[in-house]
Amino acid sequence: MTKVTISIIKADVGGWPGHATVHPRLMEIARDMLSKAVEGAIISDFHVTHCGDDLELIMSHTKGDNNKHVHETAWNIFTTTTKEAKALKLYGAGQDMLSDAFSGNVRGMGPGIAEMTFTERKAEPVVAYMMDKTEPGAFNLPIFRMFADPFNTAGLIIDPNLHPGFMFEIWDIMESKKVMMSSPEEMYDILALIGAKGRYVIKRVYPKEGGKLPANEPVAVISTEKLYKIAGEYVGKDDPVAAVRAQSGLPALGEVLEPFAFPHLVSGWMRGSHNGPLMPVSVKNATCTRFDGPPRVVGLGFQVSDGKLVGPVDLFDDPGFDYTRERAQRVAEYMRRHGPFEPHRLPLEDMEYTTLPNVMKKLKDRFAKV
Ligand code: F6R
Ligand code: MG
Ligand code: MG
Repeated sequence: MTKVTISIIKADVGGWPGHATVHPRLMEIARDMLSKAVEGAIISDFHVTHCGDDLELIMSHTKGDNNKHVHETAWNIFTTTTKEAKALKLYGAGQDMLSDAFSGNVRGMGPGIAEMTFTERKAEPVVAYMMDKTEPGAFNLPIFRMFADPFNTAGLIIDPNLHPGFMFEIWDIMESKKVMMSSPEEMYDILALIGAKGRYVIKRVYPKEGGKLPANEPVAVISTEKLYKIAGEYVGKDDPVAAVRAQSGLPALGEVLEPFAFPHLVSGWMRGSHNGPLMPVSVKNATCTRFDGPPRVVGLGFQVSDGKLVGPVDLFDDPGFDYTRERAQRVAEYMRRHGPFEPHRLPLEDMEYTTLPNVMKKLKDRFAKV
């Protein structure tokens, strides 16, 4: 049976205005180029959207993970849209394009990638999540809740297919190491790692052996590119994306959306240097305004049908999330009142910008022994 690959590849190739949103012209170019990629049989289907200032390419195909032609298509779109962004003098044009030449794979070149290959089921619901003004670890809490927390996912208790739990592939993004961990048996150890969301991030989730779904095919994947590691210095927060499958032996659609009803604190926001609430929004409201934020997440739902993407449905465009948005704004207001104080402002080592070395240099001779 042919397997389908879902590839979400994204980059910030220029903001409009500032870091608020993506200019429609860039999305138009991306759509034209992806239509050609469908005609050329490189991909089967696509959807182009944005979250904040990130241009998001959601693609389906049968070429597997890390395919040269699929990645090259995305890379060419980002270089072409960068040219247009420069012509329009958009803000930070080409921000995430850290390399000049394509070398077979966009991994490590700046763009973020969430990609997974699996056997398409009789009915295959997939949600593409896209976040702006935050980092990959922002997915730790919601992904854990979906696949491991029975207070979120009722199916973990009452559906015999979910009851055995899931396997978590966790990456240490500082040391470039990974570990496979089993939930619920190792739940406390998993949480000991992923609570440190700036370092340990959930990369993939797998079903367990002997269940309804093949244990070697992921059911969720998250982009984990760390821009500052790639560039050798901090060049901006690497706003993450994820793809999550749902239903029939997996958490239901409502169970993969439910974690976002809590606007948890994530790091990013203004200058990539502040903690703030993650607000679930529709694509129409995925424009970062207040204090360059607050951080946002968009969720687009599809049924994958013979490799085609039937959709999207804009899942947070729903009054069911109004209360969460109101709560997010109360939290945003509360956090903002701290101004330059932690824990609103991030600890020194996590900030995207810091003037501290200069301040220390200036005060060097004035510091006296206590
Ligand atoms: C956050 C972000 C923005 C910028 C801010 C300052 O990830 O991209 O909050 O950091 O607008 O941008 P510059 O330094 O380019 O003026
Ligand atoms: Mg930007
Ligand atoms: Mg962004």
